[in-house]
Amino acid sequence: MSTFSSISSVIEGNFNEGDPVKIRGWIYRSRQQGKLNFVVVRDASGIIQCAVKKGAVKDKHFEDATKALLESAVIVEGTVKKDGRAPGGWELQAKEFDVLHFSEIFPISRDQSTEFLLDVRHLWLRSRELTAVMKVKATILAGIREFCAKEGYFETTPPILTSSAAEGGSTLFELDYFGQKAFLSQSAQLHLEALIFSLEKVYAITPSFRAEKSRTTKHLTEYWHFEGEAAHCTHDEIMDFEERLVEYVCHKAAKENRKDLEILGRDTKELENVKAPFEKIKYADAVKILQKKGAKCKEGDDFGADEEKLLTDDFAQPVFVTNFPAKMKPFYMKENEDGTANNHDLLAPKGFGEMIGGSERETDLKLIERKLKKAGENTKNYEWYLDLRRFGSVQHSGFGLGVERLTRWICGLEHIRDTTPFPRVINRAYP
Ligand code: 4AD
Ligand code: MG
Repeated sequence: MSTFSSISSVIEGNFNEGDPVKIRGWIYRSRQQGKLNFVVVRDASGIIQCAVKKGAVKDKHFEDATKALLESAVIVEGTVKKDGRAPGGWELQAKEFDVLHFSEIFPISRDQSTEFLLDVRHLWLRSRELTAVMKVKATILAGIREFCAKEGYFETTPPILTSSAAEGGSTLFELDYFGQKAFLSQSAQLHLEALIFSLEKVYAITPSFRAEKSRTTKHLTEYWHFEGEAAHCTHDEIMDFEERLVEYVCHKAAKENRKDLEILGRDTKELENVKAPFEKIKYADAVKILQKKGAKCKEGDDFGADEEKLLTDDFAQPVFVTNFPAKMKPFYMKENEDGTANNHDLLAPKGFGEMIGGSERETDLKLIERKLKKAGENTKNYEWYLDLRRFGSVQHSGFGLGVERLTRWICGLEHIRDTTPFPRVINRAYP
């Protein structure tokens, strides 16, 4: 027998008792009972207990199983047995136990500090929890791409090295580009806007960078940004697209990642119940609701974490807040006659915070120029963008979704850093 089976295929009962199986993975846990070693092995799909009994395997294999430490890489061949006491209800009774690599003493054990676990993140990634999150995130990314393809959006590849700031100077990472000033992209939006004139409906999933000086549970300095932009698209139409996308992705994760979400203690019912359309509250009304709930905020204030939580505590699914004062928002947002922006944030329920920011885009060339100047920008750096308002300008709308923000809410995680394998935050770019 030469092919390997995944551990989950055994645990899910795809084999009959007595069937031969061969698996490979890493030692997850191990305990010795006299002439019997119980070695729990994990692979990408799950864990299974292997019984390695003296006499049932070669002496060398029994000795190796006795001395192999956690995280040693192994191949186990044996027969399948139902066993209620084993995790998952199935056990592998070993006939062969090959150690591919004897691990040194693994530095991670129980009750270690968060900082230490972040120092050994490259090893901690092997934990069941982080493995589960990474699988959910893979589903989310696949779901986004599936949904966009169904809706006729083209995936595009905008630049990461840029010369223009979409979201203002305060969170820009600046770098020396052969003697010229350049930045790491905060958002692909401006370049996506250029692409709608050939492809009409476009999206990109790119790293975005924010020099966020604040330490919060929802800010990374490097995150994955899913952004969409569509020509001839109204503000309502783009929100409609977003809510259907979020519903699609939630249902897909609830269905395909049931086991992973269970490991994370996430109630999948809540995800199954996500149903578009979502509630839409105007910013001015949101302020009133917050004031009624006892918050100190007033018209013109941005919502902090406390306000977001207060506002969304009673909601079981995401909610849009629309029409923020245009003064609070970037130059590219369409301004309404009443001084509000034709924009929206999508807030996750229960204080998980903003997942999406989007708007209809301003098409008034003079107004954009005025706003850029007021923000202290050199309009020369934006000439290419202003050209988009000179040559066949049309109504259009778009949005940006923080993939880690969505992952955090779908997984129900306390901190955003656990949604990404190697988190970058203010005090950390290692490992
Ligand atoms: O609201 P933001 O700043 O909007 C933009 O960048 C627009 N130009 C997007 C567009 O319309 N194409 O960022 C969009 C989303 C936020 O809603 C949030 O989910 C995420 O990006 N985000 C962050 N995620 C993790 N860490 C950070 N520091 C983030 N900053 C924004
Ligand atoms: Mg925003």
